[in-house]
Amino acid sequence: MIERGTSTAPVDPPAGTPAKPVTTGTTRRKSVGFLGSSNGRKAVMAVTGAVLVLFLVGHMTGNLKAFFGAASFNEYANFLRTMGEPLLPYRVALTLVEVVLGACIVLHMWSAVSLARRAGKARPVKYAAKRKSQAGGYAVHTMRYGGVVILLFVIYHLLDLTFGTVNPAGWDGTPYERLVAGFAPERWWVTLFYAVAVVMVGLHLRHGLWSAFQTLGLASGRSYRPLKGAAAAISAVLVLGFLVVPVAVMSGVIK
Ligand code: HEM
Repeated sequence: MIERGTSTAPVDPPAGTPAKPVTTGTTRRKSVGFLGSSNGRKAVMAVTGAVLVLFLVGHMTGNLKAFFGAASFNEYANFLRTMGEPLLPYRVALTLVEVVLGACIVLHMWSAVSLARRAGKARPVKYAAKRKSQAGGYAVHTMRYGGVVILLFVIYHLLDLTFGTVNPAGWDGTPYERLVAGFAPERWWVTLFYAVAVVMVGLHLRHGLWSAFQTLGLASGRSYRPLKGAAAAISAVLVLGFLVVPVAVMSGVIK
């Protein structure tokens, strides 16, 4: 596999010059090994992305417990804290999950930023013609700025529903009380913020899934359209599944 920005094309040396590898372009390969290669970083991005998608599917499904009442939702929240007991002490398994999730977020961002930098260095001169390309327009904006909005959302979200710092029910409330207080009708702007963030998550996911299908070489020929549709459908289900709970609380269906 040829690295972008590093030409391995053979060049004839002038007569008498000792033969040595020729590197043209603006980037030199500084790091070696799998993680230093673009393919290695794409793999890191794909694996961490997959872990985060699995978390989102589980989280979205768990949230729907809110429709079964306070006892059901709190029981689920309690299960998260007590899973692994008695083998593991209280909340240890959940803390491990949180550490893995945190590491996945950091590694996912690191691989995205380093790959984008590498691509930028490989083409320091912009294309003369403005192309509506995946690499230069919509996708970059959704992934880059969407990623930042999602990160800010997750920070607010943890302060809101996990720690209760910015939630009217506070730390002392049960998870269900925090949920109902957080999305109360008079706090419609919280639901609006969540809606924007969740749509960003959906767009991010749609593009991420589609890129992963392409990287894996699955999206060609006949499978192109169905896989593009699958990426959009999975993302849409996730967005709707996440949105239905805050909207139900705001409109008084869950109280
Ligand atoms: C929009 C609908 C959402 C609702 C109603 C919701 C609800 C909740 C609740 C109630 C908790 C606390 C669980 C507990 O204390 O037991 C929580 C935790 C969390 N949520 Fe969400 N969430 C939503 C969307 C999201 C999204 C889109 C993401 C990620 C992009 C996310 C990431 C997290 C994380 C990382 C935690 C901490 C998990 C942990 O305890 O380790 N949530 N969420």
